[in-house]
Amino acid sequence: MINDIYFQDFPQLESERLIFREIIISDASDIQSIRTDKDVMKYMDSNPHTTVQDSKNFISKNIETYKKGNGLFWAIIEKSTNTFIGDFSYWRILRENHRAEIGYTLKPQFWGKGFMKETMIELIKFGFNNLNLHSIEANVNPENESSKKLLHRLGFRKEGYFKENYYFDGKYLDSEVFSLLEVDFKHS
Ligand SMILES: CC(C)(COP(=O)(O)OP(=O)(O)OC[C@H]1O[C@@H](n2cnc3c(N)ncnc32)[C@H](O)[C@@H]1OP(=O)(O)O)[C@@H](O)C(=O)NCCC(=O)NCCS
Repeated sequence: MINDIYFQDFPQLESERLIFREIIISDASDIQSIRTDKDVMKYMDSNPHTTVQDSKNFISKNIETYKKGNGLFWAIIEKSTNTFIGDFSYWRILRENHRAEIGYTLKPQFWGKGFMKETMIELIKFGFNNLNLHSIEANVNPENESSKKLLHRLGFRKEGYFKENYYFDGKYLDSEVFSLLEVDFKHS
């Protein structure tokens, strides 16, 4: 069973360099800056947030998902400068299967420093050990090499390739589905 205690009090967590706290509406300008950035959005296959209100709506939707017990959305804060650098979510929890799908972004100036690997080690450990997930899924644009490299580093395996299964912006796009079981998780 998914551990419902974390849907009463949001789990704030930390790692060596980072704090993972609940996303709040006042994070909207940071979320907007990420979700309008061309490099970030290149393989996200979702619409950019053209206004801060778009980001507020996005955050509200994620808070509602959390309240229903179907997802958790963390802001990633770099400790030494207290800066918002990105986000990580279990944005879709399939309770009956003890499975969740992850989503993650970093502001481009924080790429190449191991921050997302550090985030995923901490929050995936939490997912298996505390939330009681059995498996974790990531759905990736096949051309998103940095995301796939990160998933491989953590032990995710490619389990599926779907041809033209996703319609976005007038095109049918391919998807790769990666999955992680606890036995395969590389967290050192
Ligand atoms: C996906 C994404 C988060 C990956 O970011 P990233 O910076 O490559 O990943 P990490 O933060 O784990 O950093 C790993 C890199 O930092 C380097 N690094 C530097 N210092 C490090 C440290 N102390 N520890 C670990 N890695 C370190 C690694 O060598 C690696 O670089 P490399 O890929 O050139 O070998 C980022 O590209 C992104 O936000 N993309 C846009 C959004 C997106 O596509 N999200 C995923 C949708 S499926």
